[in-house]
Amino acid sequence: MGTESAFEVARQANEWAMAGNRVFPFHIGDFNIPTPGRVVDAMNRAIANGKTGYCQPQGIPQLRQALAQDVGQLRDVDYATENVIIQPGGKPTIGKFLLAIMEPGDEVLCPSPGFPIYESLIEFNEGKTVPYAFHEDEGQFFLDLDQLKAAITPKTTILIINNNHNPTAAESPTSELEALAEICLENDLWVLSDEAYFETRYKGQSQSIASFPGMAERTVILYTFSKRFAMTGWRVGASIGPPGIMEIIGQLNVNDESCTNHFAQWAMIDAIEGGEEMCKPIIDKLHVRRDLTCEILNSIKGISVGVPASTFYVYPDVTEIVEKLDFNDTIELQEDVLQKTGVAFCPRAYFGTPLPDEPRHYVRLAYAGISQLDIRDGLARFREYCEA
Ligand SMILES: Cc1ncc(COP(=O)(O)O)c(C=O)c1O
Repeated sequence: MGTESAFEVARQANEWAMAGNRVFPFHIGDFNIPTPGRVVDAMNRAIANGKTGYCQPQGIPQLRQALAQDVGQLRDVDYATENVIIQPGGKPTIGKFLLAIMEPGDEVLCPSPGFPIYESLIEFNEGKTVPYAFHEDEGQFFLDLDQLKAAITPKTTILIINNNHNPTAAESPTSELEALAEICLENDLWVLSDEAYFETRYKGQSQSIASFPGMAERTVILYTFSKRFAMTGWRVGASIGPPGIMEIIGQLNVNDESCTNHFAQWAMIDAIEGGEEMCKPIIDKLHVRRDLTCEILNSIKGISVGVPASTFYVYPDVTEIVEKLDFNDTIELQEDVLQKTGVAFCPRAYFGTPLPDEPRHYVRLAYAGISQLDIRDGLARFREYCEA
């Protein structure tokens, strides 16, 4: 079983802070922004109203219904209660989807770089991870569709996509999603569509592969409240997909955790009602941080980064710095930068096994958990380090 190595950088950063140093936390996809007060109030009300016992393993019907409507409306798909199984966060959908669908020896197409838990759980459940690549064009990342198609064999049963993408912040244009949908239909593939960052965006609209004809029937959406509502520690999310698979996933819930936190589920109904308007202050804060982070990074000699329209990550190209300092990879860069400046970020290697011959070096910086002042001070130190 693998791990989420951002927690390894967190461990190093903590050690560094315990030794009395200042740390600039760009390493983890978590918030220093509180959950909206309305949602906290709703949770307190639910506790006061006695929603403190077990509830249905599939989730309370009121929340399943509210989510079916909200997620369905934003994606133009007709979802009902039986399409939604509530989970303790987004992550549990990954393992439960694989248990429900994947047979040992199946090949699973998986984004690389990508969220490391896909690969960890595919391998743990005796499947085979088949990575597919991205290529950069003027700071934006796109799928290498030819490479992805060439990687399909008769054993390929599943495509995992993560749109909008951690760590590159890539977002598939309509044509790319159409091409992916065609590939899935032609090759009879199931899809895990990780949509953790669907609502975290600064302009435009997110798109889901489930919206394309014939796709909702073969797609399970990983939904989470964590990033949308700044509530990573509450642990509420959902698996959303065809009723047959949802029944199996519900059965896994009974065996795994009995139910997701009961009173938190009641509060999520309020979160959905509050929606975009309630979340605007969160998005506005992230927007300012994104602009600041990108502006400073792009002014550092040897670094370039695109300005993403969604997620709270940036994925700068640091090839010139890695080569100038004679490092073998970005793990060496990350460790040295932390020791010398206190700036903590994640190297590319922490996002799944790299493809052979990747031409450039990248790192991921997250800006959801760092103040504007720390962005300025941290990146000023990073500039000195890079330009010395
Ligand atoms: C792409 C992606 N999927 C899933 C998750 C897991 O979300 P949750 O914290 O709700 O389990 C994360 C968290 O960082 C993520 O980045």
